[in-house]
Amino acid sequence: MRKLSSLVRNKIEVAPSLLAADFRDLDREVGRIASAGCNVLHLDVMDGHFVPNISFGVPVVKSLRKSSDMLFDTHLMISHPLQYVEAFAKAGSDLITFHIESSDDPDEVISACRDRGLDVGISLKPATAPEVIFPYLDKIDLVLVMTVEPGFGGQSFMSDQLPKIAKIKREILARKLPVTLEVDGGIDGKTAPQAVAAGAHLLVAGTAVFRHPGGAETAVAELKKAESLLDTEL
Ligand code: DX5
Ligand code: ZN
Repeated sequence: MRKLSSLVRNKIEVAPSLLAADFRDLDREVGRIASAGCNVLHLDVMDGHFVPNISFGVPVVKSLRKSSDMLFDTHLMISHPLQYVEAFAKAGSDLITFHIESSDDPDEVISACRDRGLDVGISLKPATAPEVIFPYLDKIDLVLVMTVEPGFGGQSFMSDQLPKIAKIKREILARKLPVTLEVDGGIDGKTAPQAVAAGAHLLVAGTAVFRHPGGAETAVAELKKAESLLDTEL
């Protein structure tokens, strides 16, 4: 099991989103980003109910686990995350992030992940107020702030989410919690610096990494340029 705490905290990590990969050869695609120096793979699971799109599920995670030792960051955009924690844990997920807007009791989902030794994160859709997750902050490892409406890759970054990122970061710092702040949606060389300046240090990027004309290594280098803006207090 790979843990978020093993990642260096005063550094940016890029988590490429598999959603933007070439699905004809996922093994090769994952190998490509591992060679570019990425330690985290972002897996967007969609159920066609919580979000208006269907992506992939447990069998894909299980297959990829056979040949990858990256940290599997599983973003569950599904209505009933509790029901699937065990299956994703068995398939090889290291971190499960569920949505605070899903139907299940957050404390139950957190416990289910902990019982299986997983790291756990909570994600917020753009319209959700940051304070909603504050009661859970000392029980989780990660907060994932969506900077697009969840459901599809390739959308534009919503800069109106920056104050939310900053507010969550202030709360994490004030309470001295070891919580990773992740940002997801429309992250590229132009928007990454804004997200990092606001407090994010784990950057999900689908289109910007997998579809970069210069290759994944160039893409990751562009995103990591934002590192100078990182608040080392995090
Ligand atoms: C959206 C997903 C994102 C998305 C990111 O529902 O959670 O992870 O795939 O893709 P880009 O980087 O293309 O916006
Ligand atoms: Zn995602």
